[in-house]
Amino acid sequence: MGKQAFSSFAFVFTFLSAAANAASELPRPRGVGPEFAKFYKDPETFTCISNPSIKIPVSRLNDDYCDCPDGSDEPGTSACAFISPLSPPSPSEVTVGQFDEALALPGYYCKNKGHIPSYIPFTNVNDGACDYDLCCDGSDEWEAVGGLKCEDRCAKIGKEWRKQDEARQKSLGAANKRRKELITEAARLKQEVEDRIKTLQTQTQSQELKVQALEKSLQEIERQEKGRVVKGAGKGGKLNVLSSLAKERIQELLDNLGRVKDERDAARLRIEDLEGILRRFKEEYNPNFNDEGVKRAVKAWEDYAATEQPGPDAAKDRDLDEILKPDSESAINWSEFEEGEDSDVEALYKFEAYLPDPLRKWVNQKLRDLRVMMIENGILADPHTDSPESKAVTDARSQLEGARTELNNDKNELTRHQEDLGKDYGPDEVFRALKGHCVEKDSGEYVYEFCFLENTTQKPKKGGGNTGMGNFARIEKITVDEDLPADGKGLGSGERWVIKYENGQHCWNGPSRSTAVILACAEKDEIWKIVEEEKCVYRMEVGTPAVCVTKNGAKEAPPHSEL
Ligand SMILES: *[C@@H]1O[C@H](CO)[C@@H](O)[C@H](O)[C@H]1NC(C)=O
Ligand SMILES: *[C@@H]1O[C@H](CO)[C@@H](O)[C@H](O)[C@H]1NC(C)=O
Repeated sequence: MGKQAFSSFAFVFTFLSAAANAASELPRPRGVGPEFAKFYKDPETFTCISNPSIKIPVSRLNDDYCDCPDGSDEPGTSACAFISPLSPPSPSEVTVGQFDEALALPGYYCKNKGHIPSYIPFTNVNDGACDYDLCCDGSDEWEAVGGLKCEDRCAKIGKEWRKQDEARQKSLGAANKRRKELITEAARLKQEVEDRIKTLQTQTQSQELKVQALEKSLQEIERQEKGRVVKGAGKGGKLNVLSSLAKERIQELLDNLGRVKDERDAARLRIEDLEGILRRFKEEYNPNFNDEGVKRAVKAWEDYAATEQPGPDAAKDRDLDEILKPDSESAINWSEFEEGEDSDVEALYKFEAYLPDPLRKWVNQKLRDLRVMMIENGILADPHTDSPESKAVTDARSQLEGARTELNNDKNELTRHQEDLGKDYGPDEVFRALKGHCVEKDSGEYVYEFCFLENTTQKPKKGGGNTGMGNFARIEKITVDEDLPADGKGLGSGERWVIKYENGQHCWNGPSRSTAVILACAEKDEIWKIVEEEKCVYRMEVGTPAVCVTKNGAKEAPPHSEL
């Protein structure tokens, strides 16, 4: 029977002793523990515990002959040691009739006064060897086989044990304190993640609205830009070039018109003079001179004078004069077109200025829309197809792009954190507090390192590159069953957390390196042992306060160094 099973018996004992003490103070037969005393109270007859149909006289108890199938008549000898041991030793199951063909008793009971009582397997009773590790009072060798005398060492052993136990308890207390700190830290880190998620959720919501608004505004600005004839680009603008050309041309026409009018007026005066001369000539000539040449001339004049000649039109002449006046009211006020960076649409539809404000905006918008519609339908040429984007559009676009980038970054961060919340961080998520925390062990040629939930590494001490022994893959649980070394630095037995690291550096002619880091309760983070179990498959045994609790929340038994 392994040592572990007997620790369990010690546990059964402590659990039952209080009840048993109250049950009976009567002397018990040799080897009977207090919790079984009730079966041995009858002064005449003994009833086999698991086989109540079998009754024997009390005189046959401990007579070194096995009468009961469950061995209950031989609590103090090894006569029934051949029967398979009792199992499982759960207090509630220690009832009559439960363990057919198995021992009814956990073993020979050593009182161990001065230390802790315990059961020793029946095979060890009177076997000719002192079993001080379980029976420090030596009572298992009561028959003194071959003159063997086992002295009672419980006082010394008990004292030593209590001293060690105190240290163990202290260490366990420190470990549990550290674990609590780690859990608090882990909870804080988790809270941080949750808070960040909340912030990011609100932030991304408003960023989405912002992006939508900026998209709309960019569209709007692009539309408006289309509605412009040309950009109000100052002195070099197309409109200014156009207006100065028009101004020159009109001045040229006006100058010519003035010159032509002057020439006309001069010609008119000469015609009046000539007509006057001819009129007088007709009145004053002497028809008695029968001169054929003169007669023909007078006839021609009479014909000329008879035709309707349009006289000078005073109204039209006034208009002409008005046009030619340098400060005429109808003259174009060029400075109006030359100055200002007004939208050209506004310049072209100046009349809007006389409209009340809301109406003006409306009209303005309608005009732009009209232009846009005409451009979009190919009626008007798009003035912007060959000119670079205006600053307003560029600004709006870069604002939109900035907002989009921000939104994407935040969305990615949000996803990362949300995934993180779903990840396995071990018992009470304690590994959250240790993620990236590294522990090293010098093992002669190499220093080995493992970093919680990150990686494991082999670092050669004589230079050369590090070897990755695996990157964090997942957290698992395994069941181990090992004897604990005296210093408690080992896995012991029970369920243990394992951090698996995979896909490390590739092994020549083998797999990628991987490491299983098996964790057991200890006061400090410490690598106890590194083994290459198979080619490039490593196993690290690591002590850490992070795992000092069993899965049902009870404190893990203090590391036993059995005595
Ligand atoms: C021409 O227009 C400008 C600006 O609109 C104004 O200041 C100036 O008085 C105008 N000139 C005439 C002659 O109307
Ligand atoms: C292992 O993880 C630690 C902690 O995060 C980090 O500092 C180190 O660079 C990693 N090593 C390798 C080889 O990736």
